Amino acid sequence: MDNQDDDGPILEIDKLSISFFTRLREIPAVMDFSAVIRPGEALGLVGESGCGKSTVALGVMQDLGVNGRIVGGSIKFKGEELNTMSPERLRDIRGSQIAMIYQEPMASLNPAMKIAKQLMEVPMIHEGLSEKDAYARALEVVTDVKLPDPERILKSYPHQLSGGQQQRIVIAMALMSKPALLILDEPTTALDVTVEAAVVELVKDLGKKYGTSMLFISHNLGLILDTCDRVCVMYSGEAVERGSIEDVFDEMQHPYTQALFRSIPLPGADKNARPLVAIPGNFPLPHERPDGCNFGPRCNYFEAGRCDRQVIDMTTSSRR
Ligand SMILES: Nc1ncnc2c1ncn2[C@@H]1O[C@H](COP(=O)(O)OP(=O)(O)O)[C@@H](O)[C@H]1O
Ligand SMILES: [Mg+2]
Repeated sequence: MDNQDDDGPILEIDKLSISFFTRLREIPAVMDFSAVIRPGEALGLVGESGCGKSTVALGVMQDLGVNGRIVGGSIKFKGEELNTMSPERLRDIRGSQIAMIYQEPMASLNPAMKIAKQLMEVPMIHEGLSEKDAYARALEVVTDVKLPDPERILKSYPHQLSGGQQQRIVIAMALMSKPALLILDEPTTALDVTVEAAVVELVKDLGKKYGTSMLFISHNLGLILDTCDRVCVMYSGEAVERGSIEDVFDEMQHPYTQALFRSIPLPGADKNARPLVAIPGNFPLPHERPDGCNFGPRCNYFEAGRCDRQVIDMTTSSRR
């Protein structure tokens, strides 16, 4: 981990391609996807459901299941290639340096174990912390995720807590190892909007306090704008636009990004002056992508003969 200078990226994904293999066909879920996350930075990954966001996250975790496979490209964590890493080294890194909060966060809590024990296990196993030190860390982290009466919470079983409290415990658990990279895959979709906003605020503050870099995945562009430093917009397995939140917000270049912005309410915007416009048509399944530009059939700028003939490079609008 010391084989590179402090300013090197935490995560560097380069031309990553991931496919799922079914009996009928290869499903190219992610194609030529690149992204960089620097220390302390939060990168938002946004795009419609099915565009490949979770697949990117699971690729980073090297956890693509029986039928998923990385078919090209590279994923480096602090300069080390994850794609060719030994299973032991991977297990070690996943337990201590990379943490992920999954789409169904509550499912990662053990219903038969008190919260304290679940939290304490993480640093006791991975860092060899004593029980006393692990308890102190658990108390600190539960306080940090702003749960009332942390000592009582630690003594509880998951079912004795509300959904919102359980959600915070899952975040606390991910922070127990003080990971360098935290991946959040639509962690708030199961929550109501007020709890959601609170969780987002919390994650933002914690990222600052712990210096954790974050990959924040959401189909909700508004949430990404609120929480992240940089954003990467994905469409049908590809990155179509990336840049700082300000740059992308001020001069979004890809027609898909523009359409995505038109389809969400923006903070402070007048609803009448800026009516919301849904993106027309359907999102293509990976094996049913159109000829030419993947976004062509839904695009305001579509021109027959220009957009549906040659392969269109989707990332021409990307900035560093
Ligand atoms: N285990 C799998 N087997 C086959 N296809 C899959 C599997 N997981 C995901 N896919 C397909 O890969 C594409 C991307 O899925 P996913 O990464 O889950 O999208 P998102 O997280 O953006 O909603 C989708 O078309 C999905 O159906
Ligand atoms: Mg997903």
